[in-house]
Amino acid sequence: MSVLITGGAGYIGSHTVIEMLAAGYDVVVADNFYNSKPESIRRVKTLAGKEFPFYQCDIRDKDGLSEIFRKHRIDAVIHFAGLKAVGESVEKPLEYYDCNVGGTLTLCEVMRDAGCKRIVFSSSATVYGSFNPSPLKEDMQTGAVTNPYGRTKYMIEEILKDICRSDNEWTAVLLRYFNPIGAHISGQIGEDPNGIPNNLMPYVSQVAIGKLQQLSIYGDDYDTADGTGVRDYIHVADLALGHVKAVDYALKNKGAEAINLGTGTGYSVLDIVKAFEEANGIKVPYKIAPRRSGDIATCFSDPSKAKRLLGWQAQRNIDDMCRDSWRWQSQNPSGYDGLG
Ligand code: NAD
Ligand code: WQD
Repeated sequence: MSVLITGGAGYIGSHTVIEMLAAGYDVVVADNFYNSKPESIRRVKTLAGKEFPFYQCDIRDKDGLSEIFRKHRIDAVIHFAGLKAVGESVEKPLEYYDCNVGGTLTLCEVMRDAGCKRIVFSSSATVYGSFNPSPLKEDMQTGAVTNPYGRTKYMIEEILKDICRSDNEWTAVLLRYFNPIGAHISGQIGEDPNGIPNNLMPYVSQVAIGKLQQLSIYGDDYDTADGTGVRDYIHVADLALGHVKAVDYALKNKGAEAINLGTGTGYSVLDIVKAFEEANGIKVPYKIAPRRSGDIATCFSDPSKAKRLLGWQAQRNIDDMCRDSWRWQSQNPSGYDGLG
């Protein structure tokens, strides 16, 4: 079985390519390197010990995508490609709608024309918005999102549901990720954000290595055990394995299905700082700063549907996540920078 992985050079995509190859799938990868480097593909090939076709292609390029489907018999697509920075999406909504929504429409048209009607989509816990209480369940209302990035994820979910309603040959697995962190156990691939990181774990790692002076903890007056924000952090390798199970599922089932990928456990910002310090024996200086606009107090999953439908459950704990994040950061202080 052959699977096209869009955005396969990126953070979650690169880990998923490795797990898909290990599970025996043939993969074809397409990425425009907007937020990734060719070096990640080189390292994935080395780690997997396997070759696979790679195309530098934008998902909005219909001819380029069609050419990939002409050259390869693709049975399913895992669709990671897209823009993902919440703050940037507020500044550049048109770019986000064009790339995420427009790109997905083009991809689906090409898939339909090629007769490939199975897609596993990177959605996000952000579609639950700020009103639903945790643990978040798939049947809760979605759409009360607060930024254009989140709205693209919600809109794409709705588009894929409509496609499945209109044609019962389609399968769409809408994977709602919680907070992916960690890196491949080798320390060879990991998250490589541009500029100053927005997300907690890359920020913590860059403070630990001395690139940034101290962490700002955004608020200690939330209604949580220690006052700092609580999230459901999930190891990227577990997330990658969830995609393998989602493709297995998509090959055997029809229709649209939203599925959470989280651990079901919430950790606060202070929990993460402590866990990182203990796992790695390194101090992470921090200060308490004002709340970040748009943040909610608590967000964690009910992961039972993934267990029931996919037979998948996260295996790695918070210490594994902190250790593996640090191994990647300390072995690659500048990420893939300078390595093409
Ligand atoms: P990433 O930026 O590392 O990976 C995305 C990849 O897509 C990059 O390699 C980028 O170059 C590529 N890409 C972007 N636009 C493209 C286009 N038009 N054509 C072809 N390739 C394009 O991000 P990630 O963290 O690996 O996230 C993967 C997916 O998961 C994204 O859709 C993201 O929105 C979603 N997601 C991420 C998180 C998270 O916290 N990392 C959480 C929930 C959902
Ligand atoms: C986690 C916690 C912050 C940085 C975002 C997107 C979401 C999804 C994942 C894609 C919060 C606190 C953070 C810092 C801090 N992405 N924090 N200091 O906001 O839960 O989710 O990434 O779909 O859509 O919104 O993740 O890592 O930014 O924050 O105190 O420097 O850490 O306030 O409580 P978030 P995050």
